[in-house]
Amino acid sequence: MNNSTPKIRYWSYLEEYAAHRDDYLRAVDAVFSSGRLILGQQVASFEEHFAAYCGVPSAVGVNSCTDALFLALKALDIGPGDEVVTVANTAVPTVAAIRATGATPVFVDVEADTFLMDVVQLDGVLSRRTRCILPVHLFGQMVDMQPLLEFATRYGLSVVEDCAQACGATYNGCRAGSLGDAGAFSFYPTKVLGTFGDGGAVTTSRPDIARRLKRLRMYGMESAYYAEEEGYNSRLDEVQAALLNLKLPGLDASIALRRRIADIYNDGLTGIDGLALPVVRAGRSHQQYLYTIRTERRDELMNFMAVQGIETKVNYPDPIHLMRAYHFMGYVPGTLPVTERLAETILSLPMYPELPLDQAAEVVSAVRRFSLQ
Ligand SMILES: Cc1ncc(COP(=O)(O)O)c(C=O)c1O
Repeated sequence: MNNSTPKIRYWSYLEEYAAHRDDYLRAVDAVFSSGRLILGQQVASFEEHFAAYCGVPSAVGVNSCTDALFLALKALDIGPGDEVVTVANTAVPTVAAIRATGATPVFVDVEADTFLMDVVQLDGVLSRRTRCILPVHLFGQMVDMQPLLEFATRYGLSVVEDCAQACGATYNGCRAGSLGDAGAFSFYPTKVLGTFGDGGAVTTSRPDIARRLKRLRMYGMESAYYAEEEGYNSRLDEVQAALLNLKLPGLDASIALRRRIADIYNDGLTGIDGLALPVVRAGRSHQQYLYTIRTERRDELMNFMAVQGIETKVNYPDPIHLMRAYHFMGYVPGTLPVTERLAETILSLPMYPELPLDQAAEVVSAVRRFSLQ
């Protein structure tokens, strides 16, 4: 393994920062000079425009997507004794947020070609305690929401969408975060709409949830110094909101740049023996947060790329149900065979909007050279 700085980085914000530095610094200065640093005009404006972008009446800015998931579940009164059905093929915070409410995550397996929740399996895990389904729109593509929503309606379950990786993705023309009771978003720097620190939001079409979230994020208060219920501190701050306000209008253009890179990968990597490319289902638009391939020779390929100076990553190398932190839940190897297999075979290639196209072409030719060995 080559540990020096890669020639082709997996992700970087530095090119984008260099291009817009003056605008960002002006926006930060405007907030610092405004006299209002928390829950001011920038957050209110971002909430309005982000809700419009997602096609919902309300968005509530919070500190992170982990908090967005946690607070959305709290706003739905989910807690100890309840079961929330989700996947283990996700980032740890999906599961951590469920556990933080005191509820129990229950895992279903995923589809091998899309990496997404296999909604056909929902029936098999339904119990008297099931209260909520939490689909994760992983890597930039949405879960098959129509059958999922039909299932939820049939059994009176809530739906919280984990949209951390899917801002801007659509399903039959509907944006991520517009189909469930609530959608949870991350503005962590690597994300498709990323800021310069932590940030998150909950989208919802339900006024009762929007209202509840606004007080849960602010110590349970609706007016100063009086708690209506036990709450938390989880606010999107004015500086991050100002930066997000600058970035939101360019979101679709930056997704288009990601898609151009995905096209180069798709064109260049199609037809290689032993290599499976990501699949996008009909009726869904993928915003290419990640571009993830599958191969039995994953570790070898990853090492080969590193020697060529090309950084790649495995999202994710360890399925959550088998991690030490979650041993107490009693899952054993073999419980989620597709998830476990993916952990051994997936590899994400460099992907960010400013990745030079000649570097994307170099990634393709390196993978091709490897496949001839
Ligand atoms: C699928 C998923 N859910 C939740 C989160 C948590 O987001 P945040 O870092 O904003 O708390 C992440 C971030 O990595 C994620 O990828």
